Amino acid sequence: MPWTKKSLKNRIKKIIGNRLLIIASNREPYIHLYREGKIEYIRPVGGAVTALDPVMRVCKGTWVAYGSGNADKEVVDEKSEVRVPPENPKYKLRRIWLTKEEENGYYYGYANKSLWPLCHMAYARPNFDEVEWAYYKIVNQKFADTILEIVKNKKAFVWIQDYHLLLLGKMLKEKNENLLTAHFLHIPWPNPEAFRVCPQKIEILEGLLANDLLGFHIRYHCSNFMETVRLEMEARVDRERTSVTYGGHEAFIRAFPISIDFDENSKSADSKEVEAAMKRLKHEFSTEDNAFLMVGLDRIDYTKGIVEKIQAVDRFFEKFPEYKGKVTFIQKGGLSRMHIAKYKELNEELNNLVEEVNWKHSTEKWSPVIFIRKHMTRTEVTALYKMADACLVSPLHDGMNLVCKEYIAAKNDLNGAVLLSQFTGAARELGDAIFVNPYDRENFAITIKEVIEMPQAEKQKRMKNLRNVVKENNIYKWAGKFLEELKKI
Ligand code: G6P
Repeated sequence: MPWTKKSLKNRIKKIIGNRLLIIASNREPYIHLYREGKIEYIRPVGGAVTALDPVMRVCKGTWVAYGSGNADKEVVDEKSEVRVPPENPKYKLRRIWLTKEEENGYYYGYANKSLWPLCHMAYARPNFDEVEWAYYKIVNQKFADTILEIVKNKKAFVWIQDYHLLLLGKMLKEKNENLLTAHFLHIPWPNPEAFRVCPQKIEILEGLLANDLLGFHIRYHCSNFMETVRLEMEARVDRERTSVTYGGHEAFIRAFPISIDFDENSKSADSKEVEAAMKRLKHEFSTEDNAFLMVGLDRIDYTKGIVEKIQAVDRFFEKFPEYKGKVTFIQKGGLSRMHIAKYKELNEELNNLVEEVNWKHSTEKWSPVIFIRKHMTRTEVTALYKMADACLVSPLHDGMNLVCKEYIAAKNDLNGAVLLSQFTGAARELGDAIFVNPYDRENFAITIKEVIEMPQAEKQKRMKNLRNVVKENNIYKWAGKFLEELKKI
């Protein structure tokens, strides 16, 4: 039977029984902010929260995360909790408060200057700093203390997310061994050669191996992890059971490719609001109806390959000038982690690059690249997907990538194509995408031309297959499979 929101709802009680369900992640699903004196909320972009919010709406429970909004403290109760989604509450969000020093050391520092580049292997050197590591530990401990306080002596399952909280499983188990804990990594796990430079590698591996279940997007990341453990630790790595036993405790390692709520995304793409937003956007970008529109949506992050993508678009117009005025590329870039020098530099580089490429190719009425930095609502993003004849998703390395899946879900009329980096987790599932190597500018440019010229019937056939895959492997299946696996354990 296919997994749906309803089937997960029906099965969830059986799977987790009377245990409390607690999700722990760095990023919170709703951020409250002051805007012109009024409190509003936004939903952050980023794979982890996009995927997990629909799951929590069904499974209920408590989501523990860092409260990062400047109005976050205004809306919580005395336990620092607020019920969300704000417009139709379904579960509890428990906020953790961090000092500036903690945020700097743990989030901007160890998580995003050390672990992020270490795991993505996108030729950005990780930087390790003792003080940042100390803050990383302090904040992991803060999460542990909060969760233990919520659980008290009840039975609970704690579902830890991502690279910010790699030590949490062990910290929880040390205080309460009856807790069931699982950790899911939303980013790639690197090969042992890359990981071995990390000065804190043993503590990190011990932190992870204390969990009962470890999840990665794809099998390749699972085997990288197991191979890392085999080389670095005195542990029993069992390839048959795909588990690791360390200090008498067995942790199971499994692949669970994360996804989106396909039905919901597809349904909202046909809404009147999206139609209206399309009209507005077409007007705003003055796109001709018969022009071929390509879009990209990424956080401004060096792993996303945005520079490489714009360079490929540049090369495309150099090689095939007959397309000038007929093809436009719209890139939406969300500002991200701006207190890290590399991200600031990238933002600058993108400004210059877009300016240069537009100067080189533009005509009086047309510019090849439109770069959008302003915040866009979900409705506007969906409208952009619907307008686009092709979506360019070309990270240098990405654990999964959900933008391509969202684009596919929005294409109810089958009119669209996905250009996808072969270095994304999604590439393993989406065999009907058109693959590119983002490092290979020449071929990338040629592939853009091929997609534009691909017969409509061929594009539709591919899109149909892609939609079947994403519909079947939706977020409810991801959560259901994960929780069922935990139950087996
Ligand atoms: C990636 C990570 C997520 C993170 C997201 C956005 O998808 O796997 O954990 O939330 O990027 O990054 P940010 O630093 O803004 O949370």
